[in-house]
Amino acid sequence: MDKNKINSSLIEEIKKRRTFAIVSHPDAGKSTITEQILLFSNIIRAAGTIKARGSGKHITSDWMQIEKKRGISITGSAMQFNYKCFLINLLDTPGHEDFSEDTYRIITAVDCCLMIIDAAKGVEERTKKLINIARLRNTPIITFINKLDRDSKNPIELFDDVEKKLKISCIPITWPINCGRLFKGVYHLKDGITCIYKKHIMYNLIKTQIVNIPNLYNSLLDKYIGIDEVKTLREDIELINQCCLKFNHTNFLNGAITPVFFGSALNGFGVRHILQALINWGPCPTYRKTNCRIVYPNEDNFSGFIFKIQANMDSKHRDRIAFMRIVSGKYYQGMRLRHVRTGKYFILNDAVVFLARDRFLISNAYPGDIIGIYNHGTIRIGDTFTEGELINFIGIPNFLPELFRCIRLKNPLKQKQLLKGLTQLSEEGMIQIFRPLLNNNIILGVIGELQFEVVSDRLHQEYKIEAVYEYVNIFTVRWISCIDINIISQFKLNNSSNLAVDCNNNLIYLAPSMVNLNIISARYPEIIFSKKREYH
Ligand code: G4P
Repeated sequence: MDKNKINSSLIEEIKKRRTFAIVSHPDAGKSTITEQILLFSNIIRAAGTIKARGSGKHITSDWMQIEKKRGISITGSAMQFNYKCFLINLLDTPGHEDFSEDTYRIITAVDCCLMIIDAAKGVEERTKKLINIARLRNTPIITFINKLDRDSKNPIELFDDVEKKLKISCIPITWPINCGRLFKGVYHLKDGITCIYKKHIMYNLIKTQIVNIPNLYNSLLDKYIGIDEVKTLREDIELINQCCLKFNHTNFLNGAITPVFFGSALNGFGVRHILQALINWGPCPTYRKTNCRIVYPNEDNFSGFIFKIQANMDSKHRDRIAFMRIVSGKYYQGMRLRHVRTGKYFILNDAVVFLARDRFLISNAYPGDIIGIYNHGTIRIGDTFTEGELINFIGIPNFLPELFRCIRLKNPLKQKQLLKGLTQLSEEGMIQIFRPLLNNNIILGVIGELQFEVVSDRLHQEYKIEAVYEYVNIFTVRWISCIDINIISQFKLNNSSNLAVDCNNNLIYLAPSMVNLNIISARYPEIIFSKKREYH
């Protein structure tokens, strides 16, 4: 095949791909929406949350069973499936107790985010944190306001909340007709269709029926939603048309505006609207920055980066899998790749794609796809793979840990194993390790509380070490840098009791309080106190 043909088939593959993650605060409905998306994509036949009336039983789809001791959940993985003529890569963001640095890094590997907001609660803390990460790269965000079948806040109040807390303008695409028990559906402002939501019972199951009625002035609406409510709806829509900004695709792609949809995931209502928005407006796989140039997806040469490592993903396969986001070119089975950090070349024969618990060997993959590579600890987060070019992707950083503990051995003779185990876990991105300059303590920094439990369990299982945690007086940390070596030397001399190094020997300041950090950073204006650190 000639080069032009290869490139045009690559472009076709790029155009049909969408790579996104769902971000939300726990309980906003992420799992329910994921299930509905898989349902509409014919991946599963029944949604886990549809309850069989009378029996009280859940018809569960087994991939969703958040499993396994040690907090290693399959939901922290990637799923690839078709929706209409598109190929979707959906990356799950561990949300409950297994919230970790991984969750942040997953956001750096997608091109678009679907933000779920509980209509009764508005923007919650976890959503804010995750969206702030998405906004580092101006990632486009589609918003779904969920649980309209329950009492909800007023839509305008919800818009204000999003705009104030997330600094992004809301553009309504659908508009709700009441909420709670009076919820009647939504009006689609772009399509000019009223989608009526009706619940009824069929074969002992509660089913949601959706009736689409074109034209806001259609007399059928009086029958379906009531004369007074139609009147209010028409007034609302007129007001929105006059006052709200219109959807602009460029502004959406720049992350300046978010299209907003309303619905009830549990009832499968409104989910098709967001899927349609994702395929119509969501970006195809986009470019990524490296330390020396920008890499575009339609480049002939293959490149990709690692954003996640998972150990023992499946008890049947005791291995480590590195998750790679393909940035450019085409992967084919048997291709020769360069592992840029080590400089080594190798033949990649066994890359896999994921669908929840299952993995499938693939022969080809394209930009936007997430492929898994088996390894025994040679691959690390942030690593770049190319066909030979010496570049390193940037923007896959270490994020600031939020919780800190000192780890100690019950049996001090096993210090070597402890360090080996912790180093491996830090390479997986599960924890960060800090070694104070003035003592032999080992301090762990994590983002989610569960990680501490996971670490002690894995140390016990895999390294036969019993470790205990002790309180440590650290409120936050900052990576330290300065171009003037003399200033750094002076800083080290004066603040050694608050300084440590991370596993790559980078200097880090351990602040016992925010006040302390503010004073120190004001005292040393030449020093940069950074909240994240690039791997390269
Ligand atoms: P998460 O992954 O974001 O943590 O949320 P998840 O989907 O697990 O949903 C959290 C709870 O909210 C679940 O109830 C779920 O059924 C419910 N939920 C999700 N979407 C809707 C909706 O549109 N309307 C209503 N009324 N509820 C919704 P649960 O009681 O915790 O679990 P379950 O017993 O229903 O499974």
